[in-house]
Amino acid sequence: MNTNISEHTKNILGLKLPTDPRWVNLAEIQLEEILTDHAYCEQKAATTCISLIQKNSEKMHLVEELSPIVTEEWGHFRMVLAELKKRGLVLGRQRKDVYVNKLIEFQVKGGSPDERFLDQMLIMALIEARSCERFKRLSEGLDDNYMRNFYRKFMESEAGHYTLFINLAEYYIDKKTVRKRWNEWLKYEKELMNSAEVRGDRIH
Ligand SMILES: [Fe+2]
Ligand SMILES: [Fe+2]
Repeated sequence: MNTNISEHTKNILGLKLPTDPRWVNLAEIQLEEILTDHAYCEQKAATTCISLIQKNSEKMHLVEELSPIVTEEWGHFRMVLAELKKRGLVLGRQRKDVYVNKLIEFQVKGGSPDERFLDQMLIMALIEARSCERFKRLSEGLDDNYMRNFYRKFMESEAGHYTLFINLAEYYIDKKTVRKRWNEWLKYEKELMNSAEVRGDRIH
């Protein structure tokens, strides 16, 4: 087990609670489960971007920015699928995504169109940020050099996506409002991570 976790990882992307170090150890022994869960995360990222384009079709800047992300996330899905196939594994069934469901509970219900839009961007930014942090953990903590490199590629992409969703929020909503709500999201996510069971068969 490579336990060299950089200071940067601990503070990544403003997240208020770093992943429990035990998670990489648990994930390492259940890599097949992680691959299936990861495949669905990428698939859901692609379909959510399509749905965001549909819901915000009057926001042309968003439509243009998210269109290539759909392709990129689908590319990620295919990369994970290829890895499963290489190992003689099947995709398997989609699992219940407790983390994302808990985040959805925090999304504003009702509210103004701007408030709803802001939360649509920030929930995506948060999922990307946490995914990025987890991929970074895997890219630093796994024993297998090939798999460390495999996750490094995802880590770099998801860091870009996190930034993109924050930028999209700031393009349409004033920065002060975005900052304030982002801090509320970070606080909520910290509590969520604190109370969640550490399990190595899920990306989140
Ligand atoms: Fe991705
Ligand atoms: Fe992403």
